[in-house]
Amino acid sequence: MTDTLFDLEGRAVLITGSGGAIGSTLARALAERGARLAVQDISADKVDPVLESVAQAGGSAVPIVADLSDPAVAGSVVRDAHAVLGGLDVLINSAGTNRRKRIEEVSAEDFDAIVAVNLRALYFASQAAHPLMADAGGGSIVNLSSLSARFSFNTISVYAATKAGVTSLTRSCAREWARDRVRVNCLEPFVIKTEFTRPLWGEDHRQRWFDDVTPMGRLGSPDELVGAVVFLASDASSWMTGQSLVIDGGLTAGADWDSYAD
Ligand SMILES: NC(=O)c1ccc[n+]([C@@H]2O[C@H](COP(=O)([O-])OP(=O)(O)OC[C@H]3O[C@@H](n4cnc5c(N)ncnc54)[C@H](O)[C@@H]3O)[C@@H](O)[C@H]2O)c1
Repeated sequence: MTDTLFDLEGRAVLITGSGGAIGSTLARALAERGARLAVQDISADKVDPVLESVAQAGGSAVPIVADLSDPAVAGSVVRDAHAVLGGLDVLINSAGTNRRKRIEEVSAEDFDAIVAVNLRALYFASQAAHPLMADAGGGSIVNLSSLSARFSFNTISVYAATKAGVTSLTRSCAREWARDRVRVNCLEPFVIKTEFTRPLWGEDHRQRWFDDVTPMGRLGSPDELVGAVVFLASDASSWMTGQSLVIDGGLTAGADWDSYAD
């Protein structure tokens, strides 16, 4: 019966931040696998192309336009998705934001804006999903954390702190909800080539630097997160909860001993 292990046919899935590079890639990929989707983002401009792409993949998706920086909104987005899909098997928390500044330039408003989306909205979306999933016999929450949870970089102090919070929260939620069969895991990707990260790799010399320091010789693409999400969302990971999958082209595997030998 291993052929049904990764099956997502008919599963009800909410993706937050679905208009982003990673969220939209996941939406299409899960639609191709037969999932029924609710796709959330901050504006119709962001959500409409996702609806189109899902339709092209032969799938169906319900749009939810909402600003997750409003503390009251995250829970209601989850309850709306549950109502409109007639259930909620999987929540993918992909909405995220950043304001790159050195620590001495970060204002309290910057700090709150990043925490509001990356951590608070994810917290309250998960809180709302838990009873709905538990009542239905279980579910899977997949959080987009980041390698920055454990591996920092200049100008991302608040972002990195929120992602460390996401990884920590993944463990706490997993611990409290394990007996309800609500599994919670996260991805910790290194830099994926998207508009979100273009300021990091957009210039040639920076691109070359990333290619040099990454053992696999290149940055990742959003498609390269699909396999991990399908694994975590599906029964293939049925006895796994509270874990982080590092997806980093080998960056954290060890030092660059090749250049040492030279
Ligand atoms: N791109 C990378 O290299 C990378 C690496 C590690 C982790 N991540 C994480 O993966 C997730 C997706 O990243 P991405 O590259 O697709 O970024 P992205 O900017 O393309 O997508 C993020 C989405 O979140 C939405 N969003 C932001 N604030 C919102 C708000 N207040 N209300 C509703 N929606 C809001 C945005 O509109 C956007 O569509 C993020 O959580 C990010 O931190 C990205």
